[in-house]
Amino acid sequence: MFVPATKETPVSSDNQFENLPKHIAIIMDGNGRWAKARGLPRTEGHRQGTENLRQIIRACVEFGVQILTIYAFSTENWRRPPMEVRLLMSILQTVLKRELKELHTNGVQIRHLGKLDQVAPALQREILDACEYTKNNKRLILNVAFNYGGRDEIVNAVREIVRAGVTAEQVSEDLLNSYMYTGGLPDPDMVIRTSGELRISNFLIWQAAYAEYYFTPVYWPDFDKEELRKAIVEYGRRTRRFGMTDEQVDP
Ligand code: FPP
Repeated sequence: MFVPATKETPVSSDNQFENLPKHIAIIMDGNGRWAKARGLPRTEGHRQGTENLRQIIRACVEFGVQILTIYAFSTENWRRPPMEVRLLMSILQTVLKRELKELHTNGVQIRHLGKLDQVAPALQREILDACEYTKNNKRLILNVAFNYGGRDEIVNAVREIVRAGVTAEQVSEDLLNSYMYTGGLPDPDMVIRTSGELRISNFLIWQAAYAEYYFTPVYWPDFDKEELRKAIVEYGRRTRRFGMTDEQVDP
């Protein structure tokens, strides 16, 4: 179950936002184009993208965001050239090895969203160990969507529900929610996609039904703390109606 911030889970020292999203989800896109624009190999784009992720995690902790979900590898990314797939796998392994201690010290709880069975056993171990090691941290939940697809998640949930012998009458939105990889966590308030693409690419298609979307042309390696701040300010300007009228939301 999601635990809101308490005395033991300090919130932002820099809480400068009127309306801070609790849960931000990010499609980190544009590493390849960032590199190409500089005449660099795609690998360099991913390297810079990884470096940038560190800054954004830090900024989320600083701003007091409670949950950050990142789309690191989709079920469709297996279609990329084998070398690039290997690189993305090795990036996660390196990040977990190199950053785990610091993430833990900063109160970051790592969770995995997606399927582990197609992932190499050593990386599976690394992911599970990182989740176990950080499971009691409460400052920021970092959901790493890796080998994740929204449709695959729904199919998986339905399979589990059928296996559990749930009857048709017992099926509800809350029940489905609890079978998602994000079970127990609040839905994302805002989904950010960098690089100018205007689609959601099978990311959190169940959970983001009422999220506010923020699209920016900035490539992921350049999406820094200031860009995140802009996105959060824009979020604060939006009125979330959840199907109601303006008057009902703000009488
Ligand atoms: C999209 O850029 C990015 C990805 C497919 C994921 C890569 C993410 C990182 C390197 C950040 C950290 C990663 C992990 C595993 C923690 P793209 O290659 O689609 O760029 P393009 O659309 O410009 O080609």
